[in-house]
Amino acid sequence: MENVVKSKDYIEGICKRERIAGKDYGNTFNGMYYKHLEYITEPVLRHVDAYYHRYSMISIADFGGGSGIVGGAIKRSLKEKGYKSTLIVIDVNKNQLEGVGKEAGTLGVRPVLKNFFDFLQDDKERFDVISMRNVLNYMDREQNYYALKSAYNALRMGGIYVNSFLFSPDEESQKAMNKFYGIQEGFLQGKYARPRHLVTLYEIWELFLKTGFFRIECVGTFTESIPVRGKGSLAEKHIYTTEESELIENYLYNLPDSVKKALNICRKKNGSEDTVFLDSRFAVFKGRKIKWP
Ligand SMILES: C[S@@+](CC[C@H](N)C(=O)[O-])C[C@H]1O[C@@H](n2cnc3c(N)ncnc32)[C@H](O)[C@@H]1O
Repeated sequence: MENVVKSKDYIEGICKRERIAGKDYGNTFNGMYYKHLEYITEPVLRHVDAYYHRYSMISIADFGGGSGIVGGAIKRSLKEKGYKSTLIVIDVNKNQLEGVGKEAGTLGVRPVLKNFFDFLQDDKERFDVISMRNVLNYMDREQNYYALKSAYNALRMGGIYVNSFLFSPDEESQKAMNKFYGIQEGFLQGKYARPRHLVTLYEIWELFLKTGFFRIECVGTFTESIPVRGKGSLAEKHIYTTEESELIENYLYNLPDSVKKALNICRKKNGSEDTVFLDSRFAVFKGRKIKWP
């Protein structure tokens, strides 16, 4: 386990590939990261309304929180309902943490440069609410397990963990997309983080159960249609050559029909040009840490 989650290569790899700070990250894909936040804030608010009173001080941690978009949204939504809270945004990338003040405000907010896997062993701090958005996909299967386990360990008894991630509807499209991200990673040569492993919903259920969570629930799923070329695409922002984006398009467009259907891969207009779009599907799961009856 030590090698899997504390390896220097892992941290260096993540940091090298995630240089983007603050608003730059949030605005990737036309502000997609500011959308759908209510999927996370609403279950947290319901949880807090059910189990805490107005004078509680609720401690929130955003694991792999980047610039704190999600943690900030949770904190603000609690404040609107009259709850006091503290927030720490934990990330291994200091460029990402630079955006924390802008995104989350400064009152009761602490950016922390740290590997959240430390919570598996030595870290003693505990939280009422832990969020983790868009983190699992940058790891492999084994690291996914330890990511959930570290959140479980870091929760107070009775606390809630909310996790939003990119998922694959079935194993066939999972294989196709894992390969797709590998191809992109090659083109981008470590300039920008690419998912490595797209989890299926079945894998997530299994991980939540294995790590000890209780009252596990899929809070919702949502979809964003992403262009491969032209306006709003990663190709536009992160320097693919024309040949590279054509190669990617061809790869996607020539996948078996079943995968194309599952991922809604289709050709449509993007500005003045025809391009391939594919659906990115996100799911939000929550789980509680409670004493087993
Ligand atoms: C795609 S970004 C998501 C940022 C943020 N959660 C959001 O949704 O806006 C993934 C973040 O996870 C961080 N990360 C990955 N593994 C980590 C670890 N073991 N400890 C702390 N941060 C980690 C990366 O540095 C990166 O900032």
